[in-house]
Amino acid sequence: MTTVLRLGIAGLGTVGTGTVKIIRQKAALLEARTGCKIEISAVSARTRDKDRGVNLSSYAWEDDPVALATRDDVDVFVELMGGSDGPAKAATEAALKAGKDVVTANKAMLALHGQALAELAEANGRVLRFEAAVAGGIPVIKSLTEGLAGNEITRVLGVMNGTCNYILTRMENAGLPYEEVFEEANQLGYLEADPNLDVGGIDAGHKLSLLSSIAFGTQVHFDGVELEGIGQISIEDIHAAADMGYRIKLLGVAQMTGRGLEQRMSPCLVPAASPLGQLEGGTNMVVIEGDAVEQIVLRGPGAGEGPTASAVMGDVLDIARGTRLSTFGQPAATLVETKPAQSAAPAPYYIRMTLEDKPGALAKIATALGASGISIDRMRQYGHADTAAPVLIVTHKTRRTALNEAVIAMRETGVMLGDPVSLRIEEV
Ligand code: NAP
Ligand code: HSE
Repeated sequence: MTTVLRLGIAGLGTVGTGTVKIIRQKAALLEARTGCKIEISAVSARTRDKDRGVNLSSYAWEDDPVALATRDDVDVFVELMGGSDGPAKAATEAALKAGKDVVTANKAMLALHGQALAELAEANGRVLRFEAAVAGGIPVIKSLTEGLAGNEITRVLGVMNGTCNYILTRMENAGLPYEEVFEEANQLGYLEADPNLDVGGIDAGHKLSLLSSIAFGTQVHFDGVELEGIGQISIEDIHAAADMGYRIKLLGVAQMTGRGLEQRMSPCLVPAASPLGQLEGGTNMVVIEGDAVEQIVLRGPGAGEGPTASAVMGDVLDIARGTRLSTFGQPAATLVETKPAQSAAPAPYYIRMTLEDKPGALAKIATALGASGISIDRMRQYGHADTAAPVLIVTHKTRRTALNEAVIAMRETGVMLGDPVSLRIEEV
């Protein structure tokens, strides 16, 4: 006997309309795969009379997403409005309390309230799924919670914000400054309503905190993510990094250490020839390392109507098939609270600076580094026409704290013009 799964979809923007289109266009395929008719009972958005390029006339309309979430003819509430609090959270909570399963693409809500929502879902015997919230069309949540469940995950890293990767690769390929490419991205509609969510690393940090929870069995701890955006990256750094065989990426890294959970989202140098180094445009890549599997690399579109709706449908079809997985891969009560690692593991660093071109200047910088226990691996001084010499140093592995100490001493030498730029080099 064919059963019916009835959806209530709140949010009819990029992801919402994409989801409606898949359900309308692929009804037979979805039924064949699940043995279940996937139907939409009702929808909600802010503006009723908007042409959304898809026929919504056969669905009931609710102005209030909470009313939609609690309708008797809704089995699964699909939250595609966005926002960490407000209507998205109110409707998600209402749906779970009313006995509905929930599918969402909302990384901001889960990064801030994931633990409480997972507990609420379990207390009500419901599932809360969020494949679309991380890395768009890449099934990374499914990979971690299911395919890799037999591994102890040692590290998760990757590029999880397509907009930042677009900006950085466009700067390099077109030789354009950050401000110009930022404006271009804005014109193309790539940036979030609050652009700082993208370029400040916050959106990607939200995603990393969700992956960490599944990977390490910990409660989501977004506040523990060390965040740095891409706003300070100059075309000079992109060129200098390339010259040394690297590319700059907004890279997320999560690993459990003896010092606590290390979660970082910051611009890093990665080898230009590595899979991460080769990643172009808005594409995302997540690298997962586990004790048994060793390393897997997932690559794909991190945003957009089709890819994100594809991920939403993956969760809906799981529910249709009767798959009942815990939100973060294990019961919420078993997720442990963790403390953030106070300092990241040692790594090589790239330092770019401008020195006065006079005898002994470089020696003073080398002495300042040496005094902080930092050893130089490679160094390059570029040709110049005036009294200011551009210098690049790649260090051996050191801690950020030692580097910060060295930078203070380097400033005190009086031979440095302006502030140096230092970026971590990530081994991948
Ligand atoms: P969007 O295009 O801005 O659409 C948001 C939708 O939510 C709109 O239909 C809007 O209504 C509706 N909405 C907003 N506030 C509402 C309220 N108070 N009550 C009812 N409806 C409300 O956003 P989106 O890009 O589809 O993103 C949706 C979610 O998916 C977000 O959590 C986002 O972070 C996540 N996500 C998006 C992407 C992507 O590529 N876009 C990728 C991954 C995850 P109106 O249309 O009437 O204004
Ligand atoms: N602003 C996000 C990005 C959208 O650029 O990756 C997808 O989550």
